Amino acid sequence: MAIDETLRVAVVTMPDQIDQEWIARLGQDPRVGWMERGAILSTGLEMVKQSRPDVVIVDRLPTETEEFIRQIFTSLPTTICIALTSLTDVNVVRRLMMAGARDVLVRPVRHVDVLQSMNAIIQIEQDRRSRQLVNSDHHGYGRGKFVVVISPKGGAGTTVVSTNMAVALRQISSGRVALADFGLQFGHVGTHLNLFSRHTLQNLLAKSDEIDDTILAGVMQQHGSGVHVLLAPSSPEVAGEITREQISAVLDSLLLRYRYVIADTWCVLDEVTMALLERADDVLVVTTPEIPALKNVKFFLEYLAQHQLTRGRVSIVLNRFPSVDSVSLEDVQQHLRQPISANIPSAGQLVTYSINRGVPVVLSHPQSWVSQSLRKLAAYVAGEQVTTISLEPEKGKGRDNAGGQPRRGLFASLRRQTSR
Ligand SMILES: Nc1ncnc2c1ncn2[C@@H]1O[C@H](COP(=O)(O)OP(=O)(O)OP(=O)(O)O)[C@@H](O)[C@H]1O
Ligand SMILES: [Mg+2]
Repeated sequence: MAIDETLRVAVVTMPDQIDQEWIARLGQDPRVGWMERGAILSTGLEMVKQSRPDVVIVDRLPTETEEFIRQIFTSLPTTICIALTSLTDVNVVRRLMMAGARDVLVRPVRHVDVLQSMNAIIQIEQDRRSRQLVNSDHHGYGRGKFVVVISPKGGAGTTVVSTNMAVALRQISSGRVALADFGLQFGHVGTHLNLFSRHTLQNLLAKSDEIDDTILAGVMQQHGSGVHVLLAPSSPEVAGEITREQISAVLDSLLLRYRYVIADTWCVLDEVTMALLERADDVLVVTTPEIPALKNVKFFLEYLAQHQLTRGRVSIVLNRFPSVDSVSLEDVQQHLRQPISANIPSAGQLVTYSINRGVPVVLSHPQSWVSQSLRKLAAYVAGEQVTTISLEPEKGKGRDNAGGQPRRGLFASLRRQTSR
């Protein structure tokens, strides 16, 4: 949330107070991009947890407001809560503040009072967060950047991309990097990095409310590159038992301690994957330039948009492009109706060599075209202005073993398959 961005606001009030003028006017204010109202406490809490607004305004009886705000403050610590009260008794105000309210406004309120309060808090919050980032050494990132690497089609290269990008991010930034394997049933991050341990995400789930430095140190595996790795559970049945709350708690603990948290995922849109997408700052959708994969990506992007599954930036990474007999970049972009943000060339020999040895290709063959592309992708994620599309290796460097010219005209059958 930046001071010049529109705000997402939730208002929770009494059933007979839901039509107050200040609420209607706040909803029409250009500063407010999205507003939801609720008048039932239990569903209001659920609504807030799901929609994760920037600001929640609670206009109930003091004890209800206090309890509601406490629950939000403890489960969504970055959401700003503002309380409305008729009682100016300092003890009431104190209790609301202690529960987590950032401001207490006295009824009757006007929508400009609420707007002023929100703007002032957001300004302070931004100053505080940017200072935290500057002052941080290895801890206290305020909130790191959360990147989800996902593909709606198995085998597209999410694990190759996530592992190499994590290592490259560690190399190009001075920040701490965590790589978490949420490929819950058949996670292969450990294999790609040659890391094996009985300490996995499963150990954190049981203690998700009390994760601290000591617990994390026992679970995160240290890779030689400096990346800290959270391995996937070793038994597949754990996947079905994980709750949204546990995932949220694990992510909070990681984002507090790492500048970048990269999640590798599997291609199942279950509750865990949804929870990850909801929290993502960046979503990298990995696809290969083949018709079944592109067809799935198109549906997936539509699904993301229709269900507003993420507020993060969504970027398409075209893996194994260029490669022999693949379709052309223009055709892919035209079909997906979205630009491709980055491509990673096909480099079968190097990538297979690197996976089989458990050494990411950015370390085993740092000068190769595929590694350069993966490093550029890492720079893109870090917020650098880089050219992330490269259809030819740089001068003086041969193809890694990709080959062939992209082919046009393969899309007629794809259009037939995906048109509705
Ligand atoms: N850029 C590339 N060039 C050549 N081969 C690649 C490239 N990226 C991935 N591969 C190949 O594709 C295979 C699948 O990659 P990866 O395991 O990363 O996919 P995934 O999407 O994580 O699969 P899963 O759905 O099983 O999790 C790898 O074993 C590797 O051989
Ligand atoms: Mg994988």
